[in-house]
Amino acid sequence: MKKITILLCAICFGCKAQTTTVQPTGLIANKAMVVSAREEASKIGADIMKKGGNAFDAMVGTELALAVAYPYAGNIGGGGFMVYRKANGDTGTLDYREKAPLAATKDMYLDKDGNVIPGKSTKTPLAIGIPGTIAGVFAAHKKFGSLPIAEILKPVIELAERGVVVTHKQEERLNDYRDELTKINGANSVLSKVYKENDIIKYPALANTLKRISKNGRDEFYKGETAKKLVAYLQDKGGIITMEDLAKYEAKWRNPITFKYKDLNIISMAPPSSGGICLAQIMKMVEPFDLAKMGHNSAQGIQVIVEAERRAYADRSYFLGDPDFVKIPLKALMDDTYLKGRMSTFSFNKATLSSDIKEGKVVYNESMETTHYSIVDQFGNAISATTTLNAGYGSKYYCDELGFMLNNEMDDFSAKPGVPNMFGLVGNEANSIAPEKRMLSSMTPTIVEKNGKFFMSVGSPGGSTIITSVLQTVLNVYEYQLSMQAAVNAPRFHHQWLPDLITFEPNAFDVKTLESLKSKGYLINEKTTPVIGKVDAILALPNGKLEGGADFRGDDKAVGF
Ligand code: GLY
Repeated sequence: MKKITILLCAICFGCKAQTTTVQPTGLIANKAMVVSAREEASKIGADIMKKGGNAFDAMVGTELALAVAYPYAGNIGGGGFMVYRKANGDTGTLDYREKAPLAATKDMYLDKDGNVIPGKSTKTPLAIGIPGTIAGVFAAHKKFGSLPIAEILKPVIELAERGVVVTHKQEERLNDYRDELTKINGANSVLSKVYKENDIIKYPALANTLKRISKNGRDEFYKGETAKKLVAYLQDKGGIITMEDLAKYEAKWRNPITFKYKDLNIISMAPPSSGGICLAQIMKMVEPFDLAKMGHNSAQGIQVIVEAERRAYADRSYFLGDPDFVKIPLKALMDDTYLKGRMSTFSFNKATLSSDIKEGKVVYNESMETTHYSIVDQFGNAISATTTLNAGYGSKYYCDELGFMLNNEMDDFSAKPGVPNMFGLVGNEANSIAPEKRMLSSMTPTIVEKNGKFFMSVGSPGGSTIITSVLQTVLNVYEYQLSMQAAVNAPRFHHQWLPDLITFEPNAFDVKTLESLKSKGYLINEKTTPVIGKVDAILALPNGKLEGGADFRGDDKAVGF
C-alpha cells in the first residue's frame, strides 16, 4: 500500500514536470524487449531474439517459460490470445482459448431445481476446458517463426530441470493456496510442499513433457503419449475430456478489433474475448471529453471513464460470446452514433445507476489470475499476448506425471443467465455452455499505432479488470503524458456495470476525490482489493528506443538489448 502511495506522489509530481518531454522511467532498450511476469521468461524470450529469432520465436519461448517459472497463471494446461503487428504493418490475432468438451451441457453446473451448484464450475474436474496453449504456440511458430522449435524449447526445458527461484510474492501465493492444492493433489505434489523465498523448485516432469513436445510437435499434446496420460488422469479424477476432445482442438486466426482514438489506431482482441470490443466502446465513449484537462485520476475524469465502463460492461453481458456460435452485432456496438447515444444520459452532477441501464445484483470478487507479456523484436515486429488458467493455479488440479496445472476456464461461461461468475460478471444466452464452444474472456492483448507506426504493446491479467487496466494504461501515456513505467505504476480504478461499485486501489486516491464522487451518488467499494491488473507493456520512444513498463505489483520484469 505504502508503495502505491509513494508512487502516486511521484506520478502527480511528474505530471506537472512533464509539460514538454516525457522522461522514460522504465528499462530502455535499443532494439528488442520482452516484458513478462517473471525475469526468467523475459530473459529466455530476449535471448531467443538476440540470437536472431523474431518476436514469434520469442513468443513461443516466453509463453512456455512462463508455464515453468510462473505456474500460478503461466501454463500449458490453459489457453490465451495473441495480437501481433508485423514490421510491415500487417496485423492479426490468434485465438488459442480453451473450449468446452463434447460432453459439456448447458445445465452442467445446475442442481435439479435449476440453481448453480457453488464451486462446480471452478473447483471440480468439470471446470476444466480443453487446453489451447500448445496449439497456439505451434500455430504462431508455423506461420511466422524462424528458428527450429527444438532450439526455442531448449532453454525452457533447461529452466524446468535447473529449477526456478521462489520469490517473496510466490512464497506468499503458495502459502495462500497450499490447503486447496494439498486437498486435491496430495501432500507430495510439487506445489503442495512448503517453500521459502530463495528456495528452488525443479520441474522434472514438466521438462519431460516439453522434451516429448519438442521432439514430436503439437500432436504430442493432442494425440500422443501426453494426450493419453492427460485423459487417463482427468478421467480418473471424474473429468469428461476425451481423446476426441483433444484431437479436435484447433487454434484459430481471427481478424482483430481495430478502431481509432484521436490519432491512435488501436488493434485488440476480437471475440471470444470481450476485451477489444469493450475497450473500443469505452475509448469511443470517452473520446469527446477533454480528459487531459480534467487531470489524471481527477473526480471528473473518473466519472467519465466509469460511466463509459458501466455502459460497455452492460453490453458485454448481453451481446458477447463465441462468434462461432452466436451472432455478435460488432458494427452496431462500435457505431459512433450508438455510443454517443449511450453516453447521452450521463451528467457530471449525478451518477447513472446501473439498475437504470439494466437490472441485476451480484457480488464482486477481485482476482489476480492470468498473465500477460509484450514483445518487440529487432526487426520491428510486435506481440501482445495474454494467457490464463482462469483462477490462480486454475482448477488446482495438477497432473504430477505430466508436470502441469489444469485450468478452470469453464467458469467463464454463463452457468445460468443473470448469475455471476467468479469475477462477478453476469452473462446471458450468448455465453451459455455448448459442446466445443469457447467461453467469453476479458483478456485484452492490445497493440497501439501512432502516425502509422508501432507505438505500444500492452495487456494485463485481472479477470474483469483487465479491460479497464489496459484502458487506463493507454490513457495514462497518451492523455496524461506519463512514461511507460509510470503509466503502469499509476493507481487504477474499476467499474464493471454490476455490481454498481467503483473499486479503487487502496490508499492511492485523494480522499477529496472519493468524497466528491460519493456526493454525486457513486458507490465506492470500501472493501478494497490490493491491486487491480498487473500490466506489462512496451512503448516506442520518439528516438526509436523502447521503454518497458513492468508492473511492480508482481515480480514482473523487462529484459531487452
Ligand atoms: N479467465 C479470465 C478471462 O479470460 O477473462
